[in-house]
Amino acid sequence: MKFFIDTADLAQIKEANDLGILDGVTTNPSLMAKVGISGEAAVTNHYKTIAELVDGDVSAEVVSTTFNEIIEEGKKLHAIHPNIVVKVPMIKDGIKALKWFSDNGIKTNCTLVFSAGQAILAAKAGANYVSPFIGRIDDSNWDGVQLIEEIAEIYNIQGYETEILAASIRSPLHIVKCAQAGANVVTSPLEPILGLLKHPLTDLGLAKFLEDAKKFK
Ligand code: G3P
Repeated sequence: MKFFIDTADLAQIKEANDLGILDGVTTNPSLMAKVGISGEAAVTNHYKTIAELVDGDVSAEVVSTTFNEIIEEGKKLHAIHPNIVVKVPMIKDGIKALKWFSDNGIKTNCTLVFSAGQAILAAKAGANYVSPFIGRIDDSNWDGVQLIEEIAEIYNIQGYETEILAASIRSPLHIVKCAQAGANVVTSPLEPILGLLKHPLTDLGLAKFLEDAKKFK
């Protein structure tokens, strides 16, 4: 399973990248706004900085909702850097745009996916990634990980090549469960990634080893 970081915060991207386990980055308009990036020039520049920092796919989301506008915006995003993946919302014109990008060799990530039916449509349209939002599904009292399992089973049976990119991750356990459920990629904020490191027995065991090591120094 690949690890992407879900943020537009450069310091956090650098920290995850320095761990040596980062395969890519996902962003969205809310994450860009959170770090104070607005206006076309600043947004373009920020995507370029991220893409030059990380050796992997960087999802940049369109903010248009009609076919022609999505295509124009996606072409501009794609031109920023070869690693940019155009992130397109799961709407009717988005499906048409995913097919157009796929036919024209531009990589895509279909976002705001909350059902297996939507994931089937994204795969049929040729999306490279499909992004089910598992945390938001859990927030609505449904089971986000179960959706990953369902999509993985369907994609396996049908032989779809679209990669399942589990998004809206809230905890280290989400990451573990997504790996178990068959996600190809997990995109997570920094904290749950670092949370995977933690176990009290590791800390206690290390303290004891270091204490005992003093005896033979
Ligand atoms: O990038 C999309 C997704 O990961 C959003 O997560 O936490 O806003 O539900 P969240």
